Amino acid sequence: MSNSANKGRVVVVGSFNVDHVWALPALPRPGETLAGTYHTGPGGKGFNQATAAARAGAATAFVCALGDDAGGRLARELAAGDGLDLRALRCAEPTGTAGIYVDADGRNTIVIGPGANAELSPAFVGEHAAALDAAQVALTQLETPLESAIAAFARARDAGGSTLLNPAPADAVASDALWALTDIATPNETEFCAQLQRRGGDALDPDALAGLDDAALHAHCRRLLAHGSVVITLGKSGCFVSHADGALRGDAQAFYRVAAAAVKAIDTTGAGDAFNGALAAALARDPDAAFGEHVRYAVRFAGLSTERAGAAAAMPSDAELRARFG
Ligand code: RIB
Repeated sequence: MSNSANKGRVVVVGSFNVDHVWALPALPRPGETLAGTYHTGPGGKGFNQATAAARAGAATAFVCALGDDAGGRLARELAAGDGLDLRALRCAEPTGTAGIYVDADGRNTIVIGPGANAELSPAFVGEHAAALDAAQVALTQLETPLESAIAAFARARDAGGSTLLNPAPADAVASDALWALTDIATPNETEFCAQLQRRGGDALDPDALAGLDDAALHAHCRRLLAHGSVVITLGKSGCFVSHADGALRGDAQAFYRVAAAAVKAIDTTGAGDAFNGALAAALARDPDAAFGEHVRYAVRFAGLSTERAGAAAAMPSDAELRARFG
């Protein structure tokens, strides 16, 4: 069972991608050829979240699958630099990739090529059961096979850890089995609407979500994850927190909003990942503190990440956050 020795420990099961990024004035439309400024760097929702958790101060293990190529070597080098406990399955498939466009307002569109990420198997996750047993918080997303996410959460739950699901990207399906093993879910607006509809809820407009009244939003969250907590990240509108009845995680209210941090965003790529990694680290560090405190920390951490270009490389440190916000 999880005990005080697990405090501050996070395990992330997820993807690593080499991101190929073009910054340009406006996102391309069908039929357009545009010139942009290119850079490449480390990404993948799993790796971004693991990097964020480590920089936020958690002892972090990252379970993933990498190709035997330059991308895989990049992941190993960077993981060592951030002190990540890397548990990588070496695959014949190439390391995952992503093509990303970022516009002048810092908004992005992303296409991924899963490559090795698709090879991350439940059996490999099982080989790293000890890391899951030692974690206060297990965090995963949907860029790796569903069965592997389920295996990770089942093991973490059995060991007494908390499970944090970032149901991203929006087009990925999460099964009932995965939802049943989820304690906290953290979709953005698009992911929330897509996942809610898949679970039989109303068809909502992601662009109108932040404008719904709090009681209505809370009711929709309860439909997404009746037994657990939901945090909808809403970009410039901050986020919305919704808890199940009788499981307020130290908060005074069952639902409330947290404002976004005052930052000058230049690139929002990986901001959701920054939020998730920081939330996992904060929960692991101080599991008995009010949930709202952790959410406020994660909102600031995510905000700071948008002031730099890139995904994993843009994650701030706990010290930078405290210097900026106190
Ligand atoms: O969330 C941002 C990430 O999504 C990028 O780093 C890209 O690799 C994709 O996984």
